[in-house]
Amino acid sequence: MGAQIIDGKAFAAEMRGQVARHVARIKADHGITPGLAVVLVGEDPASQVYVRSKGKMTAEVGMNSFEHKLDAETSEVDLLALIARLNADAAVHGILVQLPLPDHLDEDLVINSIDPAKDVDGFHISNVGLLSTGQKSMVPCTPLGCLMMLRKHHGSLSGMNAVVIGRSNIVGKPMAQLLLGDSCTVTIAHSRTRDLPDVVRRADIVVAAVGRSEMVPGDWIKPGATVIDVGINRIDAPEKGAGKTRLVGDCEFDSCAEVAGAITPVPGGVGPMTIACLLANSVTACCRANGIAEPDGLTA
Ligand code: GUN
Repeated sequence: MGAQIIDGKAFAAEMRGQVARHVARIKADHGITPGLAVVLVGEDPASQVYVRSKGKMTAEVGMNSFEHKLDAETSEVDLLALIARLNADAAVHGILVQLPLPDHLDEDLVINSIDPAKDVDGFHISNVGLLSTGQKSMVPCTPLGCLMMLRKHHGSLSGMNAVVIGRSNIVGKPMAQLLLGDSCTVTIAHSRTRDLPDVVRRADIVVAAVGRSEMVPGDWIKPGATVIDVGINRIDAPEKGAGKTRLVGDCEFDSCAEVAGAITPVPGGVGPMTIACLLANSVTACCRANGIAEPDGLTA
């Protein structure tokens, strides 16, 4: 294996430490405790795990964590009423509605009902527009975490060829905007892209965010490239025993690590950075809401 492993777990722990210090300072200097509200509708098991983890880490950095668990049949009217209450609550600086929502709820309508200043996911159309025009916005947490790892590893990204595989609103599109903002030459590839292996082979930076287990093999990777693997896919692992599973990314780790210059592991790469960036966004939102100087290094 030639690649350097980019340790997202360690970097995220460092970032959470930085967030905790800012939270303590905001409390001491301004008497304000940053607060994050997380709304979960239904019982999706993966979402429940994420929400529990977010709540735990929010409390660990000294912020207030407000959890709202609603049953799967909650009406859109009731969900919008909760969001309106959270928008109006001065103790809540960040609001996150865990996705996906049950089918009867209009995801766009719900997301766009969040006050853009409290939209710590950066999914509101105002924040999407601000990001794409290079203005100050709330930046989606997963791509922000990827950008921070890339900047830490490379310093400047200027002039690098970046290929983002995946065009989702949560990761692919905002990732491309952030890389463009850092002066990369950016290609967004997706399921209809022709000659995907050749497109990926031109990349100095590959961000894989498609949600397909080990889809990118090592022979697609340009020697020395940096591979950021956003995928978190659970697959059967009969080698660990009957019924056992394990997590893999969208890239075939061993073969990519042979060729790449640097690579993020799964787990322990992008995942922990996403939550650290959510906490950072919540502190940023709290500072902006209260006219407090924003800490350096916590946003794009
Ligand atoms: N579901 C999967 N990823 C995310 C995310 O980043 N934010 C929210 N709100 N839901 C998600």
